[in-house]
Amino acid sequence: MTTKATKRAPAKKAAAASETLTVTDNRTGKTYELPIVDGTIKATDLRTIKVDDDDFGMMTYDPAFMNTASCRSAITFIDGDVGILRYRGYPIDQLAEKSSFLEVSYLLNYGELPNKTQLSEWTQWINAHAFVDESIRSVVEGFRHDAHPMAVLQAAIGGLSTIYPESKELGDPDNRMQQIVRLMAKTPTIGAWAFRRNIGRALLNPNPERSYASNLLHMMFDESGIEYNFDPRIERALDILLILHADHEQNCSTSAVRSVGSSETDVYQAASAGVAALYGPLHGGANESVLKMLRRIGSKDNIPDFVQGVKERRELLMGFGHRVYKNYDPRAKIVHKTAHEVFEVTGVNPLLEIAVELEKIALEDEFFVARKLYPNVDFYSGLIYEALKLPAEMFTVMFAIGRMPGWLAQWNELVGDSEQKISRPRQIYVGYDERNYVPMSKRK
Ligand code: ACO
Repeated sequence: MTTKATKRAPAKKAAAASETLTVTDNRTGKTYELPIVDGTIKATDLRTIKVDDDDFGMMTYDPAFMNTASCRSAITFIDGDVGILRYRGYPIDQLAEKSSFLEVSYLLNYGELPNKTQLSEWTQWINAHAFVDESIRSVVEGFRHDAHPMAVLQAAIGGLSTIYPESKELGDPDNRMQQIVRLMAKTPTIGAWAFRRNIGRALLNPNPERSYASNLLHMMFDESGIEYNFDPRIERALDILLILHADHEQNCSTSAVRSVGSSETDVYQAASAGVAALYGPLHGGANESVLKMLRRIGSKDNIPDFVQGVKERRELLMGFGHRVYKNYDPRAKIVHKTAHEVFEVTGVNPLLEIAVELEKIALEDEFFVARKLYPNVDFYSGLIYEALKLPAEMFTVMFAIGRMPGWLAQWNELVGDSEQKISRPRQIYVGYDERNYVPMSKRK
């Protein structure tokens, strides 16, 4: 097991005598010894550092949680410096090559790979719950025809708690797993419905006989009564994309799920918070932005001008950079390879040429090298989705479907973690001191 800083092994060990941090407060001259466990100190231990008895105690200031661990987790390990991603210890490239999305979702949620019977039961359990209540169908149909499908997905997922009020019983692990299965099963159905609403087609029901990826493709693209044949390579590519997105430890949307879940609301509300966070262009919305950016660049000849604009801070190179990876995102390599496999079936997307050239130029440019900016998972995923004839608005929905098992595993871990409490950061107040109310007649 790893012991590198910020990537802690799950086992908690007591601090040895030498595993302490000695802090001297130069305001008072007092010295404090703080235990170090797993390479971290507890932020609340700093509260013993005070100038006098009335002092609240020392806090840490960490906007965006750049260096604060918010939980102990045994689900996903990332070493961003060298580009490692593992789910429950298994390297992402092995899972992408050998596993399936449903197997990975089992792994994330139960902690171990399933045996044959377990995988078969898990698959049947999920397939049996893919149907979605008619009231949610009405919710989806009630939105404007051009409603962004992520906003529709977010509302409908939150709406599921109207159907399953027992989901509020958080103390029962079996009940929690039942809700996890429901969300795994229904998210693709709702995601496909949000798309169908946009294109003015009937909302189709799932077919429990089909695989997860195949069902999703059919619910998005079939006509009522007409089933298309999809090349197995397309189905496999979609499954790989879902695997690659399945979890990514404490990213923005997962932190949102955990933060909302910490209030002991039901999992549908917590998951809808994850969808809301993922919607943003700096997170899951990035693949949509990459496509828009590539279209705007328009041709390879315009790349130098575009790159100059990025360096002059007039724009961002979307699909580049990551809070955690300061090396090539291991998922981006697999997506790049998968894109070529998809294009063998669909024909090459002309934007690919621009993307490849843009990547090449950026990786050689001092601006990007110095900042360790590499392609992230979203740089090529949009090109695949576009080849599947999905509009850009659907890309983030596909991401949300993929990320659902990770959100659920993280939520379940949170609920079962006795160290967790309701999320409630502190602030450094920088506003006015007390002042008296000014009547309207006396205001300037
Ligand atoms: N294009 C140009 N410059 C960038 C980019 C980019 N995509 N990303 C970071 N930088 C620059 C910053 O301006 C900063 O430069 P400076 O130090 O000279 O001020 C430096 O690189 C460090 O960047 P930060 O903003 O500190 O990095 P942070 O960890 O806060 O941001 C983020 C990470 C949000 C992903 C950022 O890289 C970004 O906006 N990328 C584009 C959007 C994107 O692709 N998001 C998808 C992320 S993956 C995912 O969510 C699945």
